[in-house]
Amino acid sequence: MPILKQDRLETDTFLLRPWTLEDASMLNQTLLESRDFLLPWMHWIKEIPSLQDTRESIEKNLARWEDETDFTIGIFDPEDGTTALGSTGFHRLSERIAPDDAQVGMWIAASQAHAGLGTKVLKAMLDWGFRDWGFEKLQWRCDTDNAASIRCARKGGMEDQGVWEQQTIPNGDVRDSRVFWLTRESYFAQHGE
Ligand SMILES: CC(C)(COP(=O)(O)OP(=O)(O)OC[C@H]1O[C@@H](n2cnc3c(N)ncnc32)[C@H](O)[C@@H]1OP(=O)(O)O)[C@@H](O)C(=O)NCCC(=O)NCCS
Repeated sequence: MPILKQDRLETDTFLLRPWTLEDASMLNQTLLESRDFLLPWMHWIKEIPSLQDTRESIEKNLARWEDETDFTIGIFDPEDGTTALGSTGFHRLSERIAPDDAQVGMWIAASQAHAGLGTKVLKAMLDWGFRDWGFEKLQWRCDTDNAASIRCARKGGMEDQGVWEQQTIPNGDVRDSRVFWLTRESYFAQHGE
């Protein structure tokens, strides 16, 4: 089944939509405020991002959205549709991702973390991803000692695949990763079609 990209999902607690260039300064500010919190797990934030870096990364992500190679999705406050709460996505550029599959990525702004948002967004991404986008298998990968991320995957009902040794992560570093996934079939067996 072909992937059917979707532009928007709104719930009582968050709105999911692609980042646009109008979000650049909000995203940059959120990244700077959250940098110390994200740094142990998100290696791409080692370099302090300038506003121009953030604009360029949004442009790159929009191009990938258009050519359907990768889908980065902002998490916003549904009240105004613009306050950034974090970021997620259906990523397809990593190693070992089949054409009908994606890896769900996520970071939550430091000011919003550990209050249940990540779990809610992951559950919504799984439901949206299987029902509307048509993915066959959704994967979650994290550092082996990222307790919050591991807990989040388990609460999302994802199946633990154990540790994959020596995986190349997006910045080129090689690390062990804890891998979880869920197939469309097992999702519908748990939740009904
Ligand atoms: C991982 C992350 C996405 C989870 O989102 P969140 O909104 O903070 O998580 P939640 O509030 O939904 O909590 C998920 C579970 O983790 C637990 N948890 C949170 N912080 C924890 C910690 N430091 N150690 C152990 N468990 C922790 C929570 O208690 C909760 O479990 P519970 O409901 O059984 O109590 C978020 O913390 C984050 O962005 N971290 C930094 C970036 C990152 O690691 N991204 C994931 C890469 S795969």
